[in-house]
Amino acid sequence: MPSLSVFGAQWGDEGKGKMIDLLAQDVDFVVRYQGGANAGHTVRVGDAKYVLHLIPSGILHAGRVNVIGNGVAIDPVKLFEEIDGLREKGIAVDGNNLRVSAGAHVIFEYHKKLDGLAERWKGDGRIGTTGRGIGPSYSDKAARTGLRICDLICPDRLRTRLTAALREKNAILEHVYHEEPFELEPLFERYVELGQRLRPFVGDTGREVREAYKAGKKVLFEGAQGVMLDIDAGTYPFVTSSNTGTAGIGAGASFPPQKVERAYGIAKAYCTRVGEGPFPSEQEGEIGETIRAAGNEYGATTGRPRRCGWLDAVALRYSLELAGADGWVMTNLDVLSGFAEVGVATRYLRGDDSWDCYPAHIASFEGVETGVEMRPGWTEDITGVTKFSDLPASCKAYVEWIEECVGTPIVMLSVGPDRTQVIPRGEL
Ligand code: IMP
Repeated sequence: MPSLSVFGAQWGDEGKGKMIDLLAQDVDFVVRYQGGANAGHTVRVGDAKYVLHLIPSGILHAGRVNVIGNGVAIDPVKLFEEIDGLREKGIAVDGNNLRVSAGAHVIFEYHKKLDGLAERWKGDGRIGTTGRGIGPSYSDKAARTGLRICDLICPDRLRTRLTAALREKNAILEHVYHEEPFELEPLFERYVELGQRLRPFVGDTGREVREAYKAGKKVLFEGAQGVMLDIDAGTYPFVTSSNTGTAGIGAGASFPPQKVERAYGIAKAYCTRVGEGPFPSEQEGEIGETIRAAGNEYGATTGRPRRCGWLDAVALRYSLELAGADGWVMTNLDVLSGFAEVGVATRYLRGDDSWDCYPAHIASFEGVETGVEMRPGWTEDITGVTKFSDLPASCKAYVEWIEECVGTPIVMLSVGPDRTQVIPRGEL
């Protein structure tokens, strides 16, 4: 399989890190194409736990080239925290196994500050961002006032462009938010140093990946967040600021999208969401709390408790269809062990309206509820099961029924956090 995409098919946190880590064994390049340090991919290898925010999960495998593409918003402070953390755990990170696009945009301190201030300003309309400066950085990119990695590593250009950017940011900070402005010199000194440290990693990564692909290397595109948080396809305005699904690959990795041969969505056996915004199948009472406790559903980036609910087959069908997914991986199936009955949302309802396909045309999801169908649950611990045929009968029936509801084959099931806790079902 020369090139494939793995993306989140819900609201993020679907367990992509583990699946990408698993698939990275068979590829040469792992490429991030969007998002930033708002993502948090957790990978467990034996007793060791790695939480990656910016660096692709392939870094845990020797010999893989990991690429942070031009569509990623890079916070260099966070990037070096991550590089240093990996090195402390004995993982080699250098300009050979980590490549950073010269065209990626830089997140500065002022982006993070403005992210928090904008949220407070919005009152009830707040999005519940991760506060990592993602929205403000992508806003600058679209406004053409952003600084890219190629500016960061060139001190003269950095000074000129940072001076111009600060003039505008400081005016906003002082006159809109009544906050202290940033001083140019300390900011410049800090980032010029980060830029110089970053130099050995920087290149034209789009070309590097295209050349590698032409030479027969296998490339895996690693999505961050999920399709329901996509700026175009998701529950706008409660979304992140990038194209999270396969649609982001062409622009964000500078790779021809028609050359992405296979696409796999990752979705949990239930749903979670962090931050504000529509979540039609949310369960706020005991069911939601039980899922949260069993699945340890707390944000990898912010530590916030995640909102939990039944699997939303309407949203999942939509996101897999949008991505043209060849299959999907159902993760965290073990978390549902112990429920007398397990549910799946199969339609959306509001007043006299009823939708079994995602209503992307409605302005607001206010008042939208889900029609949930229940199926018998199972009590057995399934974390050690390695063959589909060994799962409890009701668990198998549940998986097969969901597959039918969603209409795309499930190629693998994940039943625990470790690399080994997977049940293959089809060809990846
Ligand atoms: P931002 O990406 O920090 O601007 O946040 C926008 C929305 O996306 C918020 O609801 C966040 O909680 C959500 N979000 C961003 N990154 C992730 C992620 O990796 N997992 C889950 N939710 C995320």
